[in-house]
Amino acid sequence: MPFDFSHTPDRSQTNSLKWSKYPPSVLPLWVADMDFPAPPAVNEALARAVAHGVHGYEFPSRRLREVVATRMERLYGWKVSPSWVIATPGIIAGFNAAAWAVCRPGQGILTQPPVYPPFLSLHKNIGGLAHQDAPLREVAEGENLLRYEIDFDHFEFMFDTDAPTRLFLLCNPHNPTGRAFSREELLKMAETCLAHNTLIVSDEIHSELTLPPHRHTPIASLSPEIAARSITLIAPSKSFNVAGLFTGFAIIPDKDLRESFLKAAERLCMHVPSLGLTAAEAAFSGECDEWLADLLTYLAANRDFVTEYARANLPGIRVTHPEATYLSWLDCRALNLAPDPYQFFLKKARVALSNGADFGEGGQGFVRLNFGCPRGTLEDALDRMKQALAEAG
Ligand SMILES: Cc1ncc(COP(=O)(O)O)c(C=O)c1O
Repeated sequence: MPFDFSHTPDRSQTNSLKWSKYPPSVLPLWVADMDFPAPPAVNEALARAVAHGVHGYEFPSRRLREVVATRMERLYGWKVSPSWVIATPGIIAGFNAAAWAVCRPGQGILTQPPVYPPFLSLHKNIGGLAHQDAPLREVAEGENLLRYEIDFDHFEFMFDTDAPTRLFLLCNPHNPTGRAFSREELLKMAETCLAHNTLIVSDEIHSELTLPPHRHTPIASLSPEIAARSITLIAPSKSFNVAGLFTGFAIIPDKDLRESFLKAAERLCMHVPSLGLTAAEAAFSGECDEWLADLLTYLAANRDFVTEYARANLPGIRVTHPEATYLSWLDCRALNLAPDPYQFFLKKARVALSNGADFGEGGQGFVRLNFGCPRGTLEDALDRMKQALAEAG
């Protein structure tokens, strides 16, 4: 019996960021959390911990680190030692600690915009670092579809431009474009990094939201040499909808790099919440895999619905057909919506999307739509957007 994702608890009376930022008349399809309850096994594990009643400090246990390592081997054939696994209070904390651990003033951090906004400000958090951009290339597919590719000439050109590129912050799968990069693409990027002595920090928070038939490949799984120059960041937060518990993992095969990361994590006071560890162990244990398979089926159908709805009802808007994530990326540039598409849909359609301009180069004139919600909510939001466009003439 598949899980039912069509009915969800009312979040409007909770302290949810997604549901409390805008007035109640606005439908929120912005920040990346889903409206579905976490899988039963996660909620049961949390309920047991709450019933115990004592919530003191915790370490990530050996068992939890084994659960993470076993999952990497089972899902991707990547052999991970539990000793490489470090718990972090989320992924942003993880890439900040990585940058603190390895970057020195005068060096550069490379990203691929349009990309998740905290990637674009990482260099500022450390200070004295250069930000380097190798934008993804837009490829039109038919009338209204958009796909993104790596422009390898530009990617290679950007290394060591204004400063030695110390860290490449990869987003795989990529938010907001929904690309699940292929082995060939990953290998080519990794070889360039190795040639420039650049460390790869790979944010793989959306990895388990890769929609069949696409498959996720951890970049570090490609070879021991790449693994030795990589920090892989994973978390149950997106796929099992437990983002508010702020728990993720850094997988760092190289011992010296691991020790530098641990020192930075200590300096940054990166403590992990005990309930987050509880949820992560249940999420990654395998007990939630059926739930996840049903979720992916539901999300793929929502993704197809957005693509088809846009083709039939939102003329002038091009959309991605994401290979992973629950995020569609809508190119509204041809419509010249004033003052920008984010404000237009917020004011005229009462739909809150994410503003593409926040995602850096190539994001202006775009909005990001979160389809991790019941189909009815999605349909309502798209109908409101269609109506607002019709009224704007
Ligand atoms: C690519 C990416 N990385 C990191 C995060 C946030 O991770 P955390 O809340 O664990 O810091 C998000 C959230 O949307 C994301 O999309």
